Amino acid sequence: MNLWAGRFKSEIDQKTNDFNSSISFDSRMYKEDIEGSIAHAEMLGQCGIIDKSEASRIITTLKWMLADINNGILKIDYTAEDIHTFIEQELTARIGDSGKRLHTARSRNDQVALDIRLHLTKCVDRLSDEIKELIDVILYKAERHADTIMPGYTHLQRAQPITFGHHLLAYANMLLRDIERLADCKKRMNISPLGSGALAGTTYPLNREMVAESLSMKGITRNSLDGVSDRDFVLELASALSIVMVHLSRFSEEIILWCSWEFKFIELDDAFSTGSSIMPQKKNPDIAELVRGKSGRVFGSLMTLLTVMKGLPLAYNKDMQEDKEAIFDAVDTVSMCLTTFTPMLTTMKVNEETMRTAAAKGFINATDCADYLVNKGMPFRDAYKIVGKLVALCIEKDLTLETLPIEEYQKISAQFDEDVYHTIKLDVCVRKRTVVGAPAPECVLREISKIKMVL
Ligand code: ARG
Repeated sequence: MNLWAGRFKSEIDQKTNDFNSSISFDSRMYKEDIEGSIAHAEMLGQCGIIDKSEASRIITTLKWMLADINNGILKIDYTAEDIHTFIEQELTARIGDSGKRLHTARSRNDQVALDIRLHLTKCVDRLSDEIKELIDVILYKAERHADTIMPGYTHLQRAQPITFGHHLLAYANMLLRDIERLADCKKRMNISPLGSGALAGTTYPLNREMVAESLSMKGITRNSLDGVSDRDFVLELASALSIVMVHLSRFSEEIILWCSWEFKFIELDDAFSTGSSIMPQKKNPDIAELVRGKSGRVFGSLMTLLTVMKGLPLAYNKDMQEDKEAIFDAVDTVSMCLTTFTPMLTTMKVNEETMRTAAAKGFINATDCADYLVNKGMPFRDAYKIVGKLVALCIEKDLTLETLPIEEYQKISAQFDEDVYHTIKLDVCVRKRTVVGAPAPECVLREISKIKMVL
C-alpha cells in the first residue's frame, strides 16, 4: 500500500513502482533517517504538538528498530518506495496510531533533504580521515627521501634538480587543500532543513533550532523553498571529490611512468601489482591505472548532478532523487581509491640510484651554471646565452657540464674558474635552493614538520 493511497483508486503499476522506488540506494541512509525522526519526535513532544508520552514511545521504538536493523533482525523491505516510507510503516506496524503521528509537521521533502545532509556529513568526515592517512604516508616517505636527488621536469623534459621528498610534498599540499575544501563544504552541508515542510513551512509551532542542535547541526536553513530544493552541498561535494581524483590521478600517472623500464625510479610491491596472462616478464601498475581511470566516474557523477539540477523549477522535483546514486558512487569510488592507493604507496620501493643517474643527465644544472656567472656580475640574459653555447658544445662532444674541461669553459667566458665544478654539483644545486617552498632538504624537513602540526 502506498503512502498516498487515499487519493488513488487503484494500485501503482509494478514497473512504475520499481522505476519510482529509491530504496535500493537510499536504504544506506536508514541510520540518519531514524536519527532525524528521533530528533523530530522529541521536538514535537517538547513543543506540545504531540503528547510527550507518545513522543517517547516513538523514540524508544525507533531506537529499537535501529538496533534491529543493525543486528539484521529487521530486514529492509525493498518493495517499499523509499527508506523514509519503510521506517515509518515499520514504526506504525510496531506501535499503531502513535507511529502515524511522527510525520506531523514534516514532509518527505524536508526529511530527505535532512537525511542526505546528515549522511554526507559523515561521509565527509570519513573521507577527510582517509586523505589524512595518505598524507601521513607521504610525509613518512618524504622525510626518508628529503635528500634523494631526482630530476624535476617541465614538459616531461628534465629541467632542474629537486629531491624526491620535495616532489612528494607537492602532493601532500594538494591533499591538504582537498581536506580544507571538504571542511568548507561541510560548513554549508551540516545545516537542518527540517521545518521547511513540503515547500511552504508549516503552521505548527516547531522549534527548528532544537532539532538542529540535537542532531549536532550548525544551524537551520532560512527559506522553506530553498530548504527542500537546495542540493548545492551535493554539487560542492562532487566537485571537491573530483578535485581529489584529479590529484590522485596525476599522482597515479607519475607512478605509472616511474615504474616503467624507461624510468625505473620506483618499484611497486607485488601485492599491489598484477601480471600478464601472456607476457611472463610483465608487472603492471594496475592499481594506479584504475585510480587514474576511476577519476572519470567521479567527474561523471559531477556532470550528472549539475545536469539534474540545472533546469529545476522550485521547489522539490522528483528529479532530485537522482542525486543519491551519483553522489554515493562518487563517495564510494574516492574512498576505495584512497584506501587502496595509501598502502600501495606505503610499500613502494624507491630506486635512489636510478633517480640520481637520471638527474646527472640532461643538463639540469644549466640554470645553476648561469647563476654562477650572474654571481660574478654578469647580467642573467648574457649568462643564459653563454651556458646555452656550453650545452651545445657538450652535446657535440658527448660530455656533460661536469666533464667539460675548464679550458673549454674559459674559451666561451673568461669568468669561469675551477670552482664552477663545485657550483654545478647536483647536491650543491639542491642545497642552495633554500627559499620557502624550495627543494633544499632543510626546507623539505621544515615543511614536513609544519604539515604535521596542522594534520
Ligand atoms: N525518495 C525521494 C527522494 O529521494 C524522497 C522524497 C519524495 N518526496 C516526494 N514528494 N515524492 O528524493
